[in-house]
Amino acid sequence: MAASGRTADFPRQRPRRLRTTAAMRELVAETSVSVSDLIAPLFVREGIAEPVEIASLPGVHQHTRDSLRREVSELAELGVRAVVLFGVPATKDDVGSGAFDPAGIVQLALADLVSEVGDSVVLIADLCVDEYTSHGHCGIVRPDGSVDNDATIEIYARAAVAQATAGAHVVAPSGMMDGQVAAIRDALDGAGFADVSILGYSAKYASGLYGPFRDAVDVTITDGGDRKGYQQDPRNRREALVEVHADLAQGADMVMVKPALAYLDVISAVRAEVDVPVAAYHVSGEYSMIKAAAANGWIDHDAVALEHLTAIRRAGADLVLTYLTRWFAERAAGASS
Ligand code: PBG
Repeated sequence: MAASGRTADFPRQRPRRLRTTAAMRELVAETSVSVSDLIAPLFVREGIAEPVEIASLPGVHQHTRDSLRREVSELAELGVRAVVLFGVPATKDDVGSGAFDPAGIVQLALADLVSEVGDSVVLIADLCVDEYTSHGHCGIVRPDGSVDNDATIEIYARAAVAQATAGAHVVAPSGMMDGQVAAIRDALDGAGFADVSILGYSAKYASGLYGPFRDAVDVTITDGGDRKGYQQDPRNRREALVEVHADLAQGADMVMVKPALAYLDVISAVRAEVDVPVAAYHVSGEYSMIKAAAANGWIDHDAVALEHLTAIRRAGADLVLTYLTRWFAERAAGASS
């Protein structure tokens, strides 16, 4: 039976009957969002004495090592099961050595968190070098300005081992270099970290929605360029499946689509294609748009925030990386007490 014939086949159906009471709506809801689906992105900055609020990401901070420990233990109390860590180093260089230095800020912070929360929270380390490079690109830049794929994945492999050594349960390569997952898997296995898993930022688009994040990690692409030479073109959906299959073939345990809302069709296509957990990143610009419009009184913050998360889950994401995690967890805790 063709889908288009369904209404005509059941002329006595009245869908509004199932919307009559809140209990009825709850009963028939097809999609749920729960705290255990959410992953909180967190920033830790080297060399600051107090946490610094990020102007373009209201409510989100660059943490000190101490304030990060507190934040993660509070999130754990609220039922949050995973965080993804980004580092902001005090100094940057050509190759982003802070990303693989055992004394780099994220490695130190991971070790702190292992002692603070142990295995009760999944510690995910974003694996890229753009926060650590003086030029702001996600890899090693050649004299002509292009990013050298194969030299870059060697650096990623070193960063993965440094992060695993520091206690990461999951590493999440976000640089969109070809072959990065295989290089990281080989390096982890070779260093005795067969149990550390890989969440690939498999379908990551060259998006205008990362603006506030670049403030959060103090990244400016100094050549005035962009990431279109390695991140995906927003016009392409099938290409996302090529990327996802490549990552799975190389050993990714989970895959991600990023950003989320402008790419719900991609999330849905990936969900239909693979059986591993699918994550989606509700990125900084998506969060900031809610905050800015709500601050102006133009939208209802809570209603829109929940609608965003629900839509991402409805499209098929199992996991959502979102700056809304703490808000959602507090709200859920308030509702149940
Ligand atoms: C790269 C990275 C970026 C984000 C996560 N990892 C920025 C970029 O590719 O420019 C963006 C996340 C967000 O906007 O919330 N290390």
